Amino acid sequence: MNKLKGADMKLNIAVLPGDGIGPEVTEQAIKALNAIALEFQHNIKFKYADVGAIAIDKTGNPLPEDTLDLCESCDAVLFGAIGDPKYDNDPSAKVRPEQGLLQLRKSLGLYANIRPVKAYDKLVDKSPLKSEIISGTDISIYRELTGGIYFGKKQISEDGNTASDLCEYSREEIERIAHLAFKAAQSRKNKVTLVDKANVLESSRLWRKVVTELAKEYTDVELDFMFVDNAAMQLILNPNQFDVILTENMFGDIISDEASVIGGSIGLLASASVGEKHALFEPIHGSYPQAKDKGIANPLASILSAAMLLEHFELYEEADLINRAVERSISLKITTPDLNPENDRVTTRLVGDFIEDFIQNPNDSNINFKNIHLGQSTII
Ligand code: IPM
Ligand code: MN
Repeated sequence: MNKLKGADMKLNIAVLPGDGIGPEVTEQAIKALNAIALEFQHNIKFKYADVGAIAIDKTGNPLPEDTLDLCESCDAVLFGAIGDPKYDNDPSAKVRPEQGLLQLRKSLGLYANIRPVKAYDKLVDKSPLKSEIISGTDISIYRELTGGIYFGKKQISEDGNTASDLCEYSREEIERIAHLAFKAAQSRKNKVTLVDKANVLESSRLWRKVVTELAKEYTDVELDFMFVDNAAMQLILNPNQFDVILTENMFGDIISDEASVIGGSIGLLASASVGEKHALFEPIHGSYPQAKDKGIANPLASILSAAMLLEHFELYEEADLINRAVERSISLKITTPDLNPENDRVTTRLVGDFIEDFIQNPNDSNINFKNIHLGQSTII
């Protein structure tokens, strides 16, 4: 391995493990990043802080000031997951863990959420969708993350019987993410599909107008429009028609969970949230509290989010090594039960160990890895 290339990158990462399975999957991503730092001689430092339900329990605030300060002072944030059932079933709760994540996105100005969706060849049979439909899928979803109905004015009438959430967008909010989506398409298959509901919503009509105007700057990219209800159907009927999907906050939230079915497990979907100054990397799965500390949580989405972090800092060789490690873990079936129900001995930590080892010894034989990591034999 060429250890001189891109050496000596110094990065301070704020780690927010959060709730549920967040801490255990984040731990595996950190192992991968530490192995990368060692191999490529980078200096990566991790600083931890609380967010979500655990932060509410300790401080009453899902995003304590210290946590935000830390995120603002670091080069990037590695985020686990937030959410706890004790808040989910209580509509009257005044503070909720999710507010921590939403405030963090807003405060750091993370307006673009990028969610890659890929059908791994070795996993096409794991998806409930037909393999001939999903095979070859490679989509990048660009979800607007700091506007729309999530952040518009919220109201509840005095009698508590009428409520509303405003969906508002400005030209500027649309333009900045649209530029990123078009640029991404230029290094992919040169196609952007704007997903909206322009037959009904005024805000969607603004999206169409602004994006159509902006497309003139990207003549090599084809721009397509699709209503979100149809897009929800097309995603599972013919996902190969998509390259970059550009959409507003709420539609992006919904269709990205739907799209995760293509990959065979939501435990595989990574994301990057970026703005002008800051960047945050998180798996798209939630806190999955039922799985906490059982060793069954899939760490690959968190590990792939760490790869997106490296890419963000233009450490492409490093990111590629993590992506290859993940592909190898999938092809050797060193994966958690969501992908590998026949073998429940492969735990969250074991997958992390494998990824770490692969990064340190990418050229070792597959058989050694498999034997060592499945605890069958240690003869090398
Ligand atoms: C996501 C999550 C969040 C969202 C929740 C936890 C607030 O579902 O990142 O997709 O709705 O954006
Ligand atoms: Mn979501």
